[in-house]
Amino acid sequence: MKRHHMKGEINVNQAVVITGAATGLGRATALKLAGEGYRLVLVDFNEEAGKQTAEDAKALGAEAIFVRADVSNEEDVKKYVEEAKSAFGTIDAFLNNAGIMVPFRLLHEYDVEEYDRIMNINVKGAFLGIKYVIPVMLENGGGTIVNTVSSNSFKPTAYNGVYAATKHALAGLTKSIGQDYQDKGIYAVGVAPNNMKTTISKNASVTMNQEIGAAIHATTPPNIAATAEEVAEAMAFAMKNGKLLTGSIINCAGGQILQ
Ligand SMILES: NC(=O)c1ccc[n+]([C@@H]2O[C@H](COP(=O)([O-])OP(=O)(O)OC[C@H]3O[C@@H](n4cnc5c(N)ncnc54)[C@H](O)[C@@H]3O)[C@@H](O)[C@H]2O)c1
Repeated sequence: MKRHHMKGEINVNQAVVITGAATGLGRATALKLAGEGYRLVLVDFNEEAGKQTAEDAKALGAEAIFVRADVSNEEDVKKYVEEAKSAFGTIDAFLNNAGIMVPFRLLHEYDVEEYDRIMNINVKGAFLGIKYVIPVMLENGGGTIVNTVSSNSFKPTAYNGVYAATKHALAGLTKSIGQDYQDKGIYAVGVAPNNMKTTISKNASVTMNQEIGAAIHATTPPNIAATAEEVAEAMAFAMKNGKLLTGSIINCAGGQILQ
């Protein structure tokens, strides 16, 4: 089924793939889009919570499927792309959102295994999604990719250097798509949350102590926290306005000035 994106718009009834849809921002965005009538492919490696998001999306009247996948595994990525195509014929929008944090440390204190783990999920996982979704969008005549980046794409918070590197990398991928696919109807927008109260920081906080807390405080200007539901508004806006926003990043930084 070939659909043309005459105005670069994403319309209700179109198919949206969301990674990291089990909890936090991915789940909040899924439920927002479910209420608007989008057809959803919800991807996560957390099967129990991912299935729950799909059930809750269906309860809101949406068509939704859950696909268990580890976004850092190439075969799993091929699987969620194939399942999206067989469920809904194509992929109109791709919300490349799954991500992790690793414990707060100085760079020399990280194990290579920790470095590989976060790079594999936050960067390679996002790249694999882009690699396998774009051919579907080319076939479809266009589409929009929203990458969940971070205020750490601009300014690292203390003791978070490897995470900051992953989010700088994802901002780079976003800008490259904006630059390289503008004549192909494929758009990419970054959404940069700053300080949502989700479970992602639990894993990072295992090393928290007074010194790290003080350093994070000192490197973080005062800011207004946002809920996942509030940032989901930015995800939906980015998705619906790819043509206008492609190559750019929406900062949800709560009053911090980021470059
Ligand atoms: N919470 C914040 O303040 C904040 C700030 C900036 C950016 N972000 C980004 O927002 C995105 C969503 O995070 P969140 O805050 O909602 O946290 P979260 O932990 O609630 O959500 C992340 C989701 O990704 C899933 N996931 C992680 N690794 C995966 C993998 N390998 N394969 C499949 N699924 C995987 C998790 O199971 C979870 O459902 C992340 O990319 C994160 O880096 C969050």
